[in-house]
Amino acid sequence: MCGIIGIASNKPVSINIINSLKKLEYRGYDSAGIATLKNDLINEKKCSGRVEELEKILLKSPSEGNIGIGHVRWATHGVPNVINAHPHSTENVSVVHNGIIENSDDLKKELETKGLKFKSQTDTEVITLLITEELKKFEPLESVFKTLKKLKGSFALGIIFKDFPEIIIGARRGSPLAVGYSKDENYLGSDSYALKSMTNKISYLDDGELCVLTKNSVSFYDDNENKINKKTHIISDDENISDKGDYKNFMSKEIFEQPITAKKCVNEYIDSLKNDINIYNFPIEPKEIKKLILVGCGTAYHSCLVAKYWFEELTSIDIEIDIASEFRYRNIKFNTENLYVFVSQSGETADTAAALDICKKNNVKTCSIVNVIESTIARNSDWVLPIHAGPEIGVASTKAFLGQLIVLYILCLKFSSMRGEIDKKLYNQNINNLIKLPEAIKETLNLENNIQLISKEFIEARGSMFLGRGSSFPIALEGALKLKELSYLHAEGYPAGEMKHGPLALIEEGLPVIIIAPKDKYFEKTLSNTQEVIARGGKIFFITDNKKDSLSDNIRFGLRVPHLDCFLSSILLTVPLQLLAYHVALLKNCDIDKPRNLAKSVTVE
Ligand code: M6R
Repeated sequence: MCGIIGIASNKPVSINIINSLKKLEYRGYDSAGIATLKNDLINEKKCSGRVEELEKILLKSPSEGNIGIGHVRWATHGVPNVINAHPHSTENVSVVHNGIIENSDDLKKELETKGLKFKSQTDTEVITLLITEELKKFEPLESVFKTLKKLKGSFALGIIFKDFPEIIIGARRGSPLAVGYSKDENYLGSDSYALKSMTNKISYLDDGELCVLTKNSVSFYDDNENKINKKTHIISDDENISDKGDYKNFMSKEIFEQPITAKKCVNEYIDSLKNDINIYNFPIEPKEIKKLILVGCGTAYHSCLVAKYWFEELTSIDIEIDIASEFRYRNIKFNTENLYVFVSQSGETADTAAALDICKKNNVKTCSIVNVIESTIARNSDWVLPIHAGPEIGVASTKAFLGQLIVLYILCLKFSSMRGEIDKKLYNQNINNLIKLPEAIKETLNLENNIQLISKEFIEARGSMFLGRGSSFPIALEGALKLKELSYLHAEGYPAGEMKHGPLALIEEGLPVIIIAPKDKYFEKTLSNTQEVIARGGKIFFITDNKKDSLSDNIRFGLRVPHLDCFLSSILLTVPLQLLAYHVALLKNCDIDKPRNLAKSVTVE
């Protein structure tokens, strides 16, 4: 992944580059770098680690110049150190890159046989050297076009040239790239969020396109090198919600604002006067849909898995779920009577975007459920259902997961009612419960103190297991994922009924086992599975919305969330698991918002 930025201005650009890089850190935080042009010299500064470090370097030794590029890296080729940090520069050219050049080894060998030397282990440096070679014969634009023809893989690029100090060239294949416009200043960025503090006027490059920026002009070209015009979008101003306020970190803010984001989402889709759902413009008439295919990665994939149970329960639609990185390489039999749904917080996840592209090539109807409505996935799908969660900055997805679940549930109810598969009474009751959901989430957050106590029990353990049945199985997967990514402790999510087929062997005296047990049709079965774990010494943490039954003495800790109905319990039972992962990570002193080795938006395969 990685984030790139470029600014051409009539005033010094380094401060704005640093500020934009801070916003792009969700894409990678292994290293950071900047290159500016001043007095016919490329001035490159880089560091391993965070943008904060780069800022310290610039405070001691400022980077001057009215034109520049910047980068935050999530390492793919080469360890995260200063040498491998971007930009990669020669005396004449400096390049920042997001993506992967798949034929970089071959290109490197070719260039080495010509006597050229490489400083880094990255795939990006071949781009710098190729452009430098072409510049001996051609102008910048032609040099870049010639270079791009040699590259296989994905990229978003920002390039500056020592001998052409007015221009920045940007190019896109696969990885996203936005252009922003302002008076006497134009910008290039991996997304509009990075440019928001400078402009709300944005164009998005499509695959194969290239742009040339100066402080006063922007020109666009297609991959046949023809000049083209691009649409300008005015982006919404939700800047104020990207601040962590009094919270210790973004993750705790995002967990605690879930009652508000859930309310916003419910209000957007529910007409409480008519007790109905406001969703229109279906790409396929709901009655005609043969099959639904839901695709996502990580947490978004888990939301699809939960939705599977809902759709099966409330509709007769056949439903299939897939992980995007698998879907894109399967030999799928596409069908125009199916609806293909892509779930993604960022809307930029490379695997999900590629899976969507395959559907488009096969002329089937697509829908995206996204948080970032200006994203590639949203722009490329036939139908977009936003989750209205506002910017999610913490790498671990929390409020976006709840938003995805809410929208998927609303979609399920709508399809069910339009297909005449739910009776009016249940439909009304389910909508009423949805309206009560934000308050119930708020109440669930009151469990924080108890969860803080429980979190101590996980620190010394050799691992932990999260178990559930039905829609609580994917919630168990999500709970385990949150704990893994935030606290670096091993955690497994499993269907409770599957334990006896192998994983029960992992249970030993004192192993923490989290049981997710809503009062649904699986409850009694889950209780039996709990007994199996207790009998083998597992330390049980039992989370339920069941008000009636008293919890067994053998249960180490019990947590009760409010009860709304068997569908919304999935949403409420998620919240204690988010808090648990958060508090374990806090005790372990982990970097909550930026867990090691990860990035918020995974824009590489
Ligand atoms: O932006 P997306 O929803 O497409 O991202 C998908 C996953 O990368 C993401 O959910 C990831 O699993 C989260 N870090 C989990 O907390």
